[in-house]
Amino acid sequence: MASQEQSNQNDNTTHFGYKTVDTENKASMVADVFHSVAAQYDVMNDLMSFGIHRLWKRFTIDASGVRPGNKVLDLAGGTGDLTAKFSQIVGKDGQVILADINSSMLNVGRDKLRDRGLVQNIEYVQANAECLPFEDNSFDIITIAFGLRNVTDKDKALRSMYRVLKPGGRLLVLEFSKPEHELLNKAYDFYSFNILPKMGELVAKDGDSYQYLAESIRMHPDQETLESMMKNAGFEQTTYKNLTGGIVALHKGYKF
Ligand SMILES: C[S@@+](CC[C@H](N)C(=O)[O-])C[C@H]1O[C@@H](n2cnc3c(N)ncnc32)[C@H](O)[C@@H]1O
Repeated sequence: MASQEQSNQNDNTTHFGYKTVDTENKASMVADVFHSVAAQYDVMNDLMSFGIHRLWKRFTIDASGVRPGNKVLDLAGGTGDLTAKFSQIVGKDGQVILADINSSMLNVGRDKLRDRGLVQNIEYVQANAECLPFEDNSFDIITIAFGLRNVTDKDKALRSMYRVLKPGGRLLVLEFSKPEHELLNKAYDFYSFNILPKMGELVAKDGDSYQYLAESIRMHPDQETLESMMKNAGFEQTTYKNLTGGIVALHKGYKF
């Protein structure tokens, strides 16, 4: 996968799911997907994962070691599931920034969190993970959950995250990954390519976006490749933990 990413970058093309597209066009194609799914995003997440995404996110919060007073960046934070939990833990002396490139996702997230009364320590910022508009050494914790897969230049984004982390801070990347066992892989493939797009068509009236979801997961770097990308960006003490048999993995790395 690493060599494929590399060769794609060399000829100014990249992948959008299984399609090869001009690098400069990918961000707007991803934007179209998330403008289209934003309103149904939370319902679809619960349906598609049978609610298990809530456990993956809970695990991420616990693994982050977040404390009252911390400053947290929930990058590609979308509708704000992680932000909501972080906001309650960091308290009035802390701060959570929910950053996302997509205005529709940010608006759904802002409305949801405000309806829950979560207002005092959350800021909303429209930003591209590849060039974060924050000062060096700003955050104790950065999370990017199911977001890195969609970013055009993942190496650039990882370097940008490294820059804005404080020394001693940590990055947590929660992302779909490669199932550990062949049998699980086959069942998961069947589910992703035969059932998911139909569910997307029925509930969100948008089968294409869920076809992209399935394809983008298969094109994403596997556990070992992502860990070496994090190391290349400067992260130290990198580890990962497979969740649900490797369907998802949580990667962690520190800046010292
Ligand atoms: C699958 S959603 C994940 C949302 C949320 N983190 C969650 O776990 O429910 C992916 C999010 O990544 C955002 N995204 C895609 N490319 C991005 C980029 N280059 N910079 C920042 N956010 C991006 C999308 O707009 C979308 O909201």
